[in-house]
Amino acid sequence: MPKTINGFSKLSKDAKIQWIAEHMFTNAEDAITVLKQYWNTDDKLQKLHDDFVENTVSNFYLPFSIVPNVLINNKVYAVPMVIEESSVVAAASLTTKFWSKRGGFKAEVISTVKVGQVHFLYDGTKADLKHYFEDKKPRLIEATNAITKNMRKRGGGILDIELRDKTEQLAQYYQLHITFETADSMGANFINTCLETIAQEFKRDDIQIIMSILSNYVPNCLVRAEVSCKVTDLYKDNADENAQKFLKAVQIAQIEPYRAVTHNKGIMNGIDAVVIATGNDFRAVEAGVHAFAARKGTYQSLTNCSIENGIFKFWIEVPLALGTVGGLTALHPLSKFSLEMMQHPSAKELMQIVAVIGLAQNFAALKALTTTGIQHGHMKMHLTNIIKQLKATETETLWLMNYFKDKTISHNAVREAYQLLKQTNAL
Ligand code: MEV
Repeated sequence: MPKTINGFSKLSKDAKIQWIAEHMFTNAEDAITVLKQYWNTDDKLQKLHDDFVENTVSNFYLPFSIVPNVLINNKVYAVPMVIEESSVVAAASLTTKFWSKRGGFKAEVISTVKVGQVHFLYDGTKADLKHYFEDKKPRLIEATNAITKNMRKRGGGILDIELRDKTEQLAQYYQLHITFETADSMGANFINTCLETIAQEFKRDDIQIIMSILSNYVPNCLVRAEVSCKVTDLYKDNADENAQKFLKAVQIAQIEPYRAVTHNKGIMNGIDAVVIATGNDFRAVEAGVHAFAARKGTYQSLTNCSIENGIFKFWIEVPLALGTVGGLTALHPLSKFSLEMMQHPSAKELMQIVAVIGLAQNFAALKALTTTGIQHGHMKMHLTNIIKQLKATETETLWLMNYFKDKTISHNAVREAYQLLKQTNAL
């Protein structure tokens, strides 16, 4: 029966493992072995990972993969992806290679404004509050001077502070809505420190500060990526019909939320994988992207498509608050490696790369969905996972891979083929 414990965080790492193994597992020794087999043999490196968060007892590995040949604005990148889903990296690689032979991706950052808010209650007259705010505004900015000094040197800082009246939605509720430019950092800590300082300077006996926090909704930190080519260059066969089906698939995702969510999930397969590989906060990106997809009151596709005068155009506009300095970017050796591999991109450049991989992922999914169907490629990649679960030998694996070249793949079908192989001693 699982137990509760007080002061778990104060135990040593070994004691934590011992406690978990003894109280949560029937075989404590096996449980300890599983945890320890993922420890890094380099103690210093392991300590680095242990110190990222509290109560660390092991490492959780995910594949770290590379997509080469990503041509963006005439520059080639090798892009890192951290993702467990089979076929995602293969799809990104095929698609980016496909587009590298058709002029590559064009990308541009539209805006880089981030937002933070001080939420407060005030019971007096609106005119008095407005007067107090306007009088106080220069000192609110002044109060952050020491914090913003370095950021200002890098071209960032506070852009503006606005008083917003929200009393129609919630009694007495107002905000200081503050916009920021954070240069190459994602800026979460910078923004939150500024907000708390501003709140401290702004508060008065009749102003009750509720909270001060950045917003992960960043519709004005926006990037656009695009591909285009002649319809006749898009498919080997039935180019017109296939391109029209592709266009319809995008239009369906623009008006049908059930489809739009899955459509955007495929985009996030690419976006999250690069965001994680570069040590950025994928939860922040996820939250902001989905809010953006719903900004018109209904959840819609992040990508758009047009076919005009025989030219196919496919593009994405997506909000991405990313950093290439600060946070985990230089602390995690693989994030550092990722950024170096991409020739130390600026935050703006990284926004473009991430948007491109999202677009590439969506292109691959829609092309497959509207032609062969998704399971064809997906299950082909999944076949190796199924075979691994069966603990097949190398020779058996090769035989099974060959056997399923022209057959429909499913868990059952692979298991049955494997059993037959064993029974008949065909090898
Ligand atoms: C699977 O992870 C992603 C897809 O479902 C995306 C899509 O349907 O567009 C293939």
